[in-house]
Amino acid sequence: MSKTGVNLAVFASGFGSNFSAIVKAVKQNKIKAKSVILVCDKPGALVIKRAQKAKIRVILIRREDFTSRADFEEAIIQRLRNYKINLIALAGFMRILSASFVKLYRNRIMNIHPSLLPDFKGACAIKDAFNHQAASTGVTVHFVDEEVDSGPIILQQEVAITKKDTLVSLEKKIHSVEHKLYPEAIRLFISGKLRLKDGRVCRS
Ligand code: GRF
Repeated sequence: MSKTGVNLAVFASGFGSNFSAIVKAVKQNKIKAKSVILVCDKPGALVIKRAQKAKIRVILIRREDFTSRADFEEAIIQRLRNYKINLIALAGFMRILSASFVKLYRNRIMNIHPSLLPDFKGACAIKDAFNHQAASTGVTVHFVDEEVDSGPIILQQEVAITKKDTLVSLEKKIHSVEHKLYPEAIRLFISGKLRLKDGRVCRS
């Protein structure tokens, strides 16, 4: 992958703080992406306002407008082709992509998850770690495979859970780590420093 050859699509459904962190890194030239678009499935999502403010193109595709997931994904794929997208960053995208979608963009779809995978998979990872009284949790950026919250790990960072932490303070700590880790993982991808060997990510 050449340094200037990445057209990035961020997929998000909600708040969009990771989207904003990625866009900020692009604007600061820390991420050398040729172009960035937002793919969103929720018309009222705050991430759309963030994109409009940052002058990022928004592709809104609602699942409800299609009779099947295959048709919904086909519509997304058509748009990705139009914009020559070759890297997808899932950032709070609340839909599970099909195996055929994953196959089409194999090792070109990243996801961020608020735990040290494989611990605490699922939609309530921060709360689950907190309720479990774990000594620490963390953040994982990984390539997406056919399973949920699974695939070769690109970067992980541990976050301590102290006795003083509340769920809110832990969420804050996790999100501030996310906002550094995701841009860094994308930067590594674009600079060609990520290699896959035996299903694992190596850095050169
Ligand atoms: C993040 O915690 C991310 O790890 C998870 O969904 C959340 C999205 O947050 N996959 P935001 O919308 O980027 O603020």
